[in-house]
Amino acid sequence: MKVIVPPIKSQGIKTKLVPWIKAVVPKSEGKWIEPFLGTGVVAFNSGFESAILNDTNPHIVEFYKKIQSGEITPLRVRQYLEEEGENLRIAGDNGYEHFRLIRDRFNTNFDSLDFLFLSRAGFNGMMRFNKKGEWNIPFCKKPERFSKSYVTKIVNQVAKIQRAIKSNYNFYNKEFSEIIPLAAENDIIYCDPPYYGRYVDYYNGWTEEDEKLLFMQLKETKAKFVLSTWHHNDYRSNEMIEKYWNQFNIITKDHFYHSGGKIENRRSVVEALVCNFKVDKNIDLHNHIVEKRSKQLKLFLEHTSTNHSDSKLVVTE
Ligand SMILES: C[S@@+](CC[C@H](N)C(=O)[O-])C[C@H]1O[C@@H](n2cnc3c(N)ncnc32)[C@H](O)[C@@H]1O
Repeated sequence: MKVIVPPIKSQGIKTKLVPWIKAVVPKSEGKWIEPFLGTGVVAFNSGFESAILNDTNPHIVEFYKKIQSGEITPLRVRQYLEEEGENLRIAGDNGYEHFRLIRDRFNTNFDSLDFLFLSRAGFNGMMRFNKKGEWNIPFCKKPERFSKSYVTKIVNQVAKIQRAIKSNYNFYNKEFSEIIPLAAENDIIYCDPPYYGRYVDYYNGWTEEDEKLLFMQLKETKAKFVLSTWHHNDYRSNEMIEKYWNQFNIITKDHFYHSGGKIENRRSVVEALVCNFKVDKNIDLHNHIVEKRSKQLKLFLEHTSTNHSDSKLVVTE
């Protein structure tokens, strides 16, 4: 499948996992409910006609609401990026002077186009906010960042997202706990919360209390849910799986996260999808699901778990 890539970036963006997630989600006439929207890549590829999309990060929510209302258009984005891209190119201190200007301006009035600029001119497509809720990612050190082709790429992404956001998509800026109870029986809830024990920032604090509340709410829901989390990496396993999620169906897949272009910065993690429905083992998952355990994972599971049953677990290569 061709994945629609959003114009804003973030570490942990699920672009590469979208076909896998989509293959697992059952057909439904209901709403798509995503309490932890992030860049929106999963929601905007869901193909659902109506949705409830939420994030505690107001800048993400504002950005997409403005695309939906037509306040931000591909043309407006082109004009803005061409102008600010040129200002960046000619700015002193190798572009830094202008990067700082936009960053400080964003941290004062939180303009959605400045948010897009920072997302695309920041180091490694990362998104992070400091304790005061200010943008906290340094400049990518490329004053020529907004070349003609790069601007066109971003403008095309905005155009595709504009088409993907339907009029029945409703955006919220609330806690996840206020969103999950809105789900009806034939809705699909997709949850991608911050991973417990991993990265934290202003909008991504995540405690065991949060995980427990999420578990309680998903356990109660009448809707079908799919939860993304991590299963294990080379060093440890996610204790939340043992504690909470093991009572549901779990499928896993090896995944590589890149932080920077260097090979040594590739970190491998086994991703998990936790579902409260039976995943049809015969569906075509584009070879993502293999109904046998890899030797390595089998050893790992025997070592760490007494609860897993064969029928619960489908392992990917
Ligand atoms: C892992 S990211 C989601 C990534 C997204 N699936 C993607 O591919 O871009 C988690 C998101 O949850 C949001 N978030 C963190 N805590 C939250 C909470 N308590 N309620 C709602 N959203 C929250 C963060 O702002 C962040 O955007």
